[in-house]
Amino acid sequence: MDALKPQVLVARRAPAAVMDRLSARFGVDYHDGEAPLGTDALRERLQGKAGAYITGTERITAELLAACPDLRVVSTMSVGYNHIDLAACTARGVLVTNTPDVLTETTADFGFALLMATARRMSEGERLLRDGGWKSWSWDFLAGADIYNSTLGILGMGRIGQAIARRGRFGFGMNVVYHNRSRLPAETETELGARYVAKDELLRQADHLVLVLPYSAESHHCVAAAELALMKPTATLINIARGGIVDEDALAAALREQRIAAAGLDVFEGEPRVNPALLTLPNVVLTPHIASATMPTRLAMAGLAADNLIAALTGATPPTPLNPQVLPL
Ligand code: DGY
Repeated sequence: MDALKPQVLVARRAPAAVMDRLSARFGVDYHDGEAPLGTDALRERLQGKAGAYITGTERITAELLAACPDLRVVSTMSVGYNHIDLAACTARGVLVTNTPDVLTETTADFGFALLMATARRMSEGERLLRDGGWKSWSWDFLAGADIYNSTLGILGMGRIGQAIARRGRFGFGMNVVYHNRSRLPAETETELGARYVAKDELLRQADHLVLVLPYSAESHHCVAAAELALMKPTATLINIARGGIVDEDALAAALREQRIAAAGLDVFEGEPRVNPALLTLPNVVLTPHIASATMPTRLAMAGLAADNLIAALTGATPPTPLNPQVLPL
């Protein structure tokens, strides 16, 4: 019976409600192990599959697509899609969908939390306290940087960047400057109270610089030694975008030599491996890629990824396609 239904691979553990919806419509091959499938296993499990329900841990390459000729839809439960060769998918007529919007506010909350924890040295303080290092009060004990009234720099002013700008401007009275591939319309700048500046100016002016731009060949290591050298020695750098945007060796050197004050990183170039140079530094807050991790948001992302897959394989219009030009399938 199931053989008559479209066959899909669910490549990572998913909420029960999502599995129920997918199983009601498709023949489902479910990989519910904690570790992601490797390249070979993914290729094998995708044989005969019309759809793939994936997350940011599965790479969809041109080679994989060539080896999986039945694949018509790749639905990723993530807003980022740098793990998918979108051009190759489009060339083969494979629809790709992602999960924007539903994670915007949650991710912006986390970006701000990481900024505050980093600037106010919270992890450092907690480590010191737990290790018995808290002996008394002194005037400069764990003194960090102010958030209110300071200059918030945002590199990448998409939906999440704008949500962070609102928090900074209206929650903390920050002076907001940003740089983006394309400048926002004047009315959006006015609504956000944000000023567009050149990238070098952004690096020079920011007391706190938040990276929220998509990862691509152009943004690879776009914050490296030269960019870090432009930043204030009191500045903090926050990365909630993708690890490859920052040259981690250059960042570790800048933090070690206190050429910038601190960094907060939720994403890493080789994650889940973390550059060992970062692990030993006190002035960096490290979190394991959890910016969108609240239960309501993760359920919303999983649900939207299912909506996309179901719509695409049942002839309806998926809510959030990345390459709608391949439709109808
Ligand atoms: C996203 O949605 O892109 C997050 O980084 C989780 O992968």
